[in-house]
Amino acid sequence: MTVYAIIGGTGLTQLDGLRIDAEIVMETPYGAPSAPVLRGDYAGRTVLFLARHGHPHRIPPHQVNYRANLWALKQAGAEAILAVNAVGGIPQAMPAGHFCVPQQIIDYTYGRAQTFFEGELQQVTHIDFSEPYDARLRAALIAALRSEGAAFSDHGIYGCTQGPRLETAAEILRLERDGCDLVGMTGMPEAALARELELPYACLALVVNPAAGKSSAPITMEAIEQVLAQGMSTIRSVLTRVLLG
Ligand code: HPA
Repeated sequence: MTVYAIIGGTGLTQLDGLRIDAEIVMETPYGAPSAPVLRGDYAGRTVLFLARHGHPHRIPPHQVNYRANLWALKQAGAEAILAVNAVGGIPQAMPAGHFCVPQQIIDYTYGRAQTFFEGELQQVTHIDFSEPYDARLRAALIAALRSEGAAFSDHGIYGCTQGPRLETAAEILRLERDGCDLVGMTGMPEAALARELELPYACLALVVNPAAGKSSAPITMEAIEQVLAQGMSTIRSVLTRVLLG
């Protein structure tokens, strides 16, 4: 049985229903992960959970130690990763409250430690990242969203920005010209690091606001939090379906 690890993003700092049997506090060669890795029983399956921004939520996207997080999950026994990400929606087809299982990423981040393959190496390694997300995990998320009757898109391009500030309207237009449907700050280097560790990885994205310039209303944390709160029960149901899959 696959041991899934869930990386919870903004709004998902703990997993209700997870009967925790271990809080694994780990130091990795890359430093400490965002929080202890929780190992527990979720609907009869062993599941690992890590709060990407810490619990309570305190680490901004550009300061998350993505390498330590992925390393710790692998050490704890993860065999596949389901990442949950709150994002901005760029086209009209991605309104607040909409879900998306992206199939591609464009990385606009900078200055983040983005590889395990550096330093004293036996050989230089270039991973194949043509398809950044795992097809089987994507299919499982899509099937679960369909069963839940959620409003969702079964594909999309995730543009990962550096943050922590939100984008300018012109930056969003540029991302749109590049083909991005979603904008978030945490998709990379997380996905690439998972690939380097040969961990299948997929993203369940919840649109929490129209991206900058896409709505006349300013983007407020209050509005985002409201959408997050509404989306969380669907996220939990979708994750449960995939875990039980
Ligand atoms: N931009 C970048 N990251 C985000 C957004 C956004 O509009 N909403 C949630 N995460």
